[in-house]
Amino acid sequence: MMSRPPGKVWFVGAGPGAADLLTVRAIRVLAQADIVLHDALMTEALLEWAPGATHVAVGKRCEGAAMPQATIDRALIDAARRNAVVVRLKGGDPGVFGRLDEEIDALDAAGIPWEIVPGITSASAAAAAAGHSLTRRGVARAVQIVTPRIGRGEQGDGQWARGLDPAATVVLYMAGRMAQACARTLLGQGFAAHTPVVAVRAASWLQQSIERTDLTRLARDGLTIDERPVVLMVGEAVRERTPVPSSRVVLGSDCRAEVVSSH
Ligand SMILES: C[S@@+](CC[C@H](N)C(=O)[O-])C[C@H]1O[C@@H](n2cnc3c(N)ncnc32)[C@H](O)[C@@H]1O
Repeated sequence: MMSRPPGKVWFVGAGPGAADLLTVRAIRVLAQADIVLHDALMTEALLEWAPGATHVAVGKRCEGAAMPQATIDRALIDAARRNAVVVRLKGGDPGVFGRLDEEIDALDAAGIPWEIVPGITSASAAAAAAGHSLTRRGVARAVQIVTPRIGRGEQGDGQWARGLDPAATVVLYMAGRMAQACARTLLGQGFAAHTPVVAVRAASWLQQSIERTDLTRLARDGLTIDERPVVLMVGEAVRERTPVPSSRVVLGSDCRAEVVSSH
């Protein structure tokens, strides 16, 4: 008896959490899924895009691995051997701190086809939530996405900050508990004392919050941590806007136009 060919695994970016911040392609693939293997932090509302599928939490928290990576790889391979359309749903963009390559390597070794559907990464969602661009003409010419964490350990020697550019917008992932140490490292790297920092927790969720500080205050006070995921945006591009006074044009007695501030 001929065994059936394996199904295809779709690595789908779930975006930052809101059920309507997925791409149309992601929604189409989810609608056809037989099985969805998803990270721990997915909401029910997101999973509703795959009503006909079996939903399996593969239990990875944002800041740690509750399920060993090898077990997740195995589950993906087993799912593809039993189902035609397998979705591996990952938070944000699968290619940003998503351990995507380990899973792709495992599928390649097992001869299972795969495809990636990109998603909105937390940096983009956080910038949008706080009302900023990540790059800004004349202010920030680059975006640097970085984490001070490596694997399960933490790199305490500041190696992670090598090459970070004070003229860029630096976005720190998985850094909430290390925020104070990160700020000290960046100051030690030559970042200006009052470089703005915006901490966005749970971007796009109902529980979203936005907190503004600067590197000196963050180095002194640290960040209050709760269960919500947080990204830190650091740089001049995220400086709080000063409201521009509204103005109106009036005609002077000599009929010349004059701009008058309303304040
Ligand atoms: C393992 S990484 C995964 C990143 C994901 N692949 C992405 O593109 O956003 C988890 C980290 O992403 C960030 N994160 C994820 N969702 C977030 C959200 N809704 N708001 C703020 N930060 C978030 C946090 O820094 C969290 O510790």
